Amino acid sequence: LSKYSTIKGISDSGVLSSLPSFYACRDPDIDGPTETLEEEVPIIDFSLLVGGTAEQRAQVIQDLGKACRDWGFFMVVNHGVPKSLMETMLNACMGFFNMREDVKQEYNGKHVFDPISHGTSFNSSVDNVRYWRDYLKVIVHPHFHSPAKPSGFRETSIEYATQTREMAKELLKAIWESLELKPEDMEEALDLNSCFQILVTNLYPPCPQPELALGIPPHSDHGLLTILLENGVNGLKVEHNGKWVHVKSLPNSFLVNTGDHMEIVSNGKYKSVVHQAEVNASSTRISIATAVGPSLDTVVVPAPQLVKHKHQLAYKGMKYRDFREHTQANPRQKYIT
Ligand code: SIN
Ligand code: FE2
Repeated sequence: LSKYSTIKGISDSGVLSSLPSFYACRDPDIDGPTETLEEEVPIIDFSLLVGGTAEQRAQVIQDLGKACRDWGFFMVVNHGVPKSLMETMLNACMGFFNMREDVKQEYNGKHVFDPISHGTSFNSSVDNVRYWRDYLKVIVHPHFHSPAKPSGFRETSIEYATQTREMAKELLKAIWESLELKPEDMEEALDLNSCFQILVTNLYPPCPQPELALGIPPHSDHGLLTILLENGVNGLKVEHNGKWVHVKSLPNSFLVNTGDHMEIVSNGKYKSVVHQAEVNASSTRISIATAVGPSLDTVVVPAPQLVKHKHQLAYKGMKYRDFREHTQANPRQKYIT
């Protein structure tokens, strides 16, 4: 095993019967909640938001507000993204991970703004332990990028990125309304026409001793919303009321969570939710996280209408670009104020 071994490579070589100690990352002090809650996450019917009656739309906006306030997390059904596109995208990602190690290595990235970066673990430069995960991270907006291989990846991911971005914008519009903010103020506050969007696909091969390892440690996402697709294998846990909830996604749905910039713009009304990815011993899990944030040059501040008195201002503004550079090294911390 070398520092550069991918989990895919390790897993395919079949040499491991137990987990190497540097993957044993479970630490009760930083793992967050110890208890697990059996609860179902809120479900949002997207079709009623864009094609329902005024009354139905108003109800969904109310439900979205509640989901953001109570959970920071919800499942979206009837979203209109074709099932075939979701499947093709999952296959394209698997196609990437299935390429030869030396081919994938061409895409190994270093900097947070590298347009394409492949790697393993979470934040290898600062973490003492390693995580059971390979990833490919691609910036897809405002400028679209794609690895040249495998063939078809570019065509599929441009379509997938476009459709999920449109969905995210509709959701953001509705969430904005749920805060009783004026629709016309949103573009100026967030500059979504130039939104920063990334696609991150995660591969979690079967893991010996999964109870000792994690795919991704507890963290919050930095953008506004993250839209997650999984290949039918569960593994995501979200923090809810001080406990962990295992998320079981419905077939053909997307999982959505709020990020740090939603917390900032809502002045803390909608918290950025902490979540982690667990691994299992028998099946390969793939997830595709599409994170949509404001434009990189926007200084996001709490919406003035939500701050009646100066002392209520919970966050000071920072350029999204600087926030990204500043926070990439410290996954758990929230730095705002
Ligand atoms: C993520 O937190 O970015 C991905 C989580 C997952 O794979 O479920
Ligand atoms: Fe995440």
